[in-house]
Amino acid sequence: MFTHAIVRPPSASFAKGLTTAGLGQPDLALALRQHATYCAALENCGLELIRLDPDDAFPDSTFVEDTAIVTASGAILTRPGAPSRAGEAASIASVLPRHFTRIRAIEDPGTVDGGDVCQADDHFIIGISGRTNAEGARQLAGHLREFGFTATSVDIRGVPGILHLKSGLSYLGEGRMVVIDALAGHPALREFETVRIARDGEYAANLLRINDHLIIAAGFPAFNAAMRAHGLPVEALDMSEFRKMDGALTCLSLRFQRIPVSSGDAARRFG
Ligand code: GLY
Repeated sequence: MFTHAIVRPPSASFAKGLTTAGLGQPDLALALRQHATYCAALENCGLELIRLDPDDAFPDSTFVEDTAIVTASGAILTRPGAPSRAGEAASIASVLPRHFTRIRAIEDPGTVDGGDVCQADDHFIIGISGRTNAEGARQLAGHLREFGFTATSVDIRGVPGILHLKSGLSYLGEGRMVVIDALAGHPALREFETVRIARDGEYAANLLRINDHLIIAAGFPAFNAAMRAHGLPVEALDMSEFRKMDGALTCLSLRFQRIPVSSGDAARRFG
């Protein structure tokens, strides 16, 4: 059960962020409106939002998910793999102690982007990518084991068209994984019932299951119908301006369950 999410709107420097999409310059005013709609959708799922200020110094900082992994037992600060994003972890480091009692960090030479980390109940799948290196995955798996989870890694460096692991799969819950064809047969996914994504609709592989709601990207009507058939309410959001910057739904928030305890607040995050 999620109760909270950390979000940060795009800043005035948003268009200077990293991208390989080739979809043109983002429109900041439209991106801000899309972000506001995204925040309203999270609130509609019952989440209380922790809203960070936009940060001009880091054009990609709206993609807050890449800066931390937050679990039921503690949080792990990442070391984002792109040099221009390395400084983003510092401001999240100042936020996490308000919500987590155990905090670990990925150390040099490890790098991890949170977009490469998929939680499926008590198990984590870690993508080794252009951003998350093998050392970062090794450190992260160690911290997760200390926190009581299992972890496995998937090398996605040869998979065309995906920046992060979660560009190509998402956990739907109840043992089901939405997955693109290129990842569908991977041994790390054999425990899951896979829901395949059509080749021309791979952007939709990144989705959010929040409590008893699904949030998916707009523009994929067949996938939308397939998701509705699972029986949960589905909201489709226009992500056009974030897609231009290689961003998707999960990238825009860190979702967690905050549980008040006597010595402060502890937190849980699933996703
Ligand atoms: N623009 C998002 C990223 O490359 O990390």
